[in-house]
Amino acid sequence: MQRRNDAVDPIRQEDPMPTVSPVSAVSPAQPVRAPGATTEAAPSPSPAIKAYAVAKHYGAGPNTVRALDGITVGVPRRSFTAVMGPSGSGKSTLLHCLAGLDTVTSGTVELAGVDLAKLSDRELTRLRRDHVGFVFQSFNLVPTLTAEENITLPALLAGQRKVDQGWLAEVVAAVSLGDRLRHRPSELSGGQQQRVAVARALFARPEVTFADEPTGNLDSRSGGETLGFLRRAVDELDQTVVMVTHDPIAAAHADRVLFLADGRLVDEMSEPTAATVLDRIKRFED
Ligand SMILES: Nc1ncnc2c1ncn2[C@@H]1O[C@H](COP(=O)(O)OP(=O)(O)O)[C@@H](O)[C@H]1O
Ligand SMILES: [Mg+2]
Repeated sequence: MQRRNDAVDPIRQEDPMPTVSPVSAVSPAQPVRAPGATTEAAPSPSPAIKAYAVAKHYGAGPNTVRALDGITVGVPRRSFTAVMGPSGSGKSTLLHCLAGLDTVTSGTVELAGVDLAKLSDRELTRLRRDHVGFVFQSFNLVPTLTAEENITLPALLAGQRKVDQGWLAEVVAAVSLGDRLRHRPSELSGGQQQRVAVARALFARPEVTFADEPTGNLDSRSGGETLGFLRRAVDELDQTVVMVTHDPIAAAHADRVLFLADGRLVDEMSEPTAATVLDRIKRFED
C-alpha cells in the first residue's frame, strides 16, 4: 500500500510563506498559555492555517447568503482556538472551509503551507484524510467496532501497515480510556464515546483537529472531560485544535477565542475565562 509519496504529497512540500504576507501581518502571537506543558514549546516556523479574506456565499443574486464575508485569520501550531458567535454567524462554514471540507467563494486558505484551492479533488481528499481531524457533535463512531478499532481504523485505511502501539498508548492514556478499549460504542457513555472520537481524530496525527460543538450532546462533567482531553492534546501531544462552541466554559479551555457575527470576525480574545467570554457575549447582545 502506498503511503506518503513525498514527490506528490502536497503537504510535504515545505514551502514556508513569506513572512510579510497580509495574513501573517495580522496573525496573533504564539499561544501564551500552556498550563500542562513541561517543556518550552519551540517557536513555530509557520502557522498551521492561514486564511485570507475568505468569503463563502450560498446562492446568487438578491438571495445570496454571505455565510462568510471576508475572514482573515491565522492559527498557530500547538494552539487551541475556540470559535464563538450566534447561530447562523458562519462558525460551521468557517470550520468546513478551513478543513477543506468545503470550497471558498473567494479568498485563500492555506493548511500547513498548502493553498487548498491549488489541489485537485484527489489531492484534497488525501489531504483531508492524512492531515485533518474532525470531531462532530454526534460522535459518528462505527457501532460494530470496539473503541480501539474505531481509533485505529482511519489510520489503517489511510495506508498505515500496522498500528503504532506506542502512540496508541499515549493517546489512550491522554484520553483516560484504558479499560474501555475493548468495548463497543453502545457500551460506553456519551462522554466516553466522544473521547473515542477525539482519540480517533488525534491518532492520525493531523495538522489540525477541528471540532464542531464537541460537547453539545454531553452533560457538563462529560463535556469537561472531553475539553480537558483537547487541552492536553495541545499541551502534551503538540496538536492544534480549532473548536466551535457556544459555551463560555468550553471556550475558557482555549488559548484564544474568535468571535463571529454575520460571517465576519468581529472580535478576538486571548487567555479567555468563562467570565470574560460571557461578558463579551453579553456586550454583543446589547
Ligand atoms: N448549504 C447551505 N446552503 C445555503 N445556506 C447555507 C448552507 N450552509 C449554511 N448556510 C447559511 O450560512 C449561514 C451560516 O451558517 P453556519 O455556518 O451553519 O452557521 P453557524 O454554524 O454559526 O450556526 C446561515 O445563514 C446558514 O443558513
Ligand atoms: Mg454550526
